[in-house]
Amino acid sequence: MSHRNFQRVIKSRAPRPGARNNARVPPRWRNELERILISDEQIARRIRAMSRDIARDYASRELVVVSLLNGTVMFLADLIRNLSLPLRLDFIGVSSYGAGTESGELVFTKELRLSVRGRDVLLVDDILDTGKTLYRVLGKLRALKPRRIKTCVLLNKAARRIEAVEADYVGFEIPDLFVVGYGLDFAERYRNLPFVGVLHPHVYRQASQRIAPARRRKTCARGCD
Ligand code: XMP
Repeated sequence: MSHRNFQRVIKSRAPRPGARNNARVPPRWRNELERILISDEQIARRIRAMSRDIARDYASRELVVVSLLNGTVMFLADLIRNLSLPLRLDFIGVSSYGAGTESGELVFTKELRLSVRGRDVLLVDDILDTGKTLYRVLGKLRALKPRRIKTCVLLNKAARRIEAVEADYVGFEIPDLFVVGYGLDFAERYRNLPFVGVLHPHVYRQASQRIAPARRRKTCARGCD
């Protein structure tokens, strides 16, 4: 593998702007989801292409894949089963406690167990939004002195970026909408949906009205993983 090839930043492919997804929200979810943003077929196709890019860039190297819990479950499983490379897998648990769909304070709930010193690391997350999560996790990983770290996210919501972080491999560029499904949650729900859908604002408005007055409970809405 040439150094140049390794450095290549993979361009993401966005769903066509304004294009409506023909897939229809299953009746069970119609009250909660506005529409399907990315269908299961589109996800599967894109992940196969991303896996090919990653496999080519890391050919002949053993990877340590570090995945952030819990939102990456589906993406990670599909990504690594398509990666025909020797790899080792570990997880970091991160929670972001906030109200409604806004992320709050980051808390690490599980630490890395594998050593990444001198290794090639692929850090996998579900969505790059403000960038606060990846920024913090990258800082933590760099301190462990890996040989190289690349980042891979299924979704990139560039419009909301606060920290200067970009991913090396991006599945889809998405607009500033709160999305759920395919591992992504709102208050721990919707992770099991096989597609990425847009949550009806009434769902998170209702939830934040319920919790806002007393602020008695911590909620895990955006980034509760
Ligand atoms: P930041 O803002 O730190 O966000 O880049 C990273 C984490 O926040 C969660 N997140 C979302 N979860 N729909 C979700 O279900 C969204 O639209 C969304 N935006 C951010 C996610 O867990 C991610 O790892």
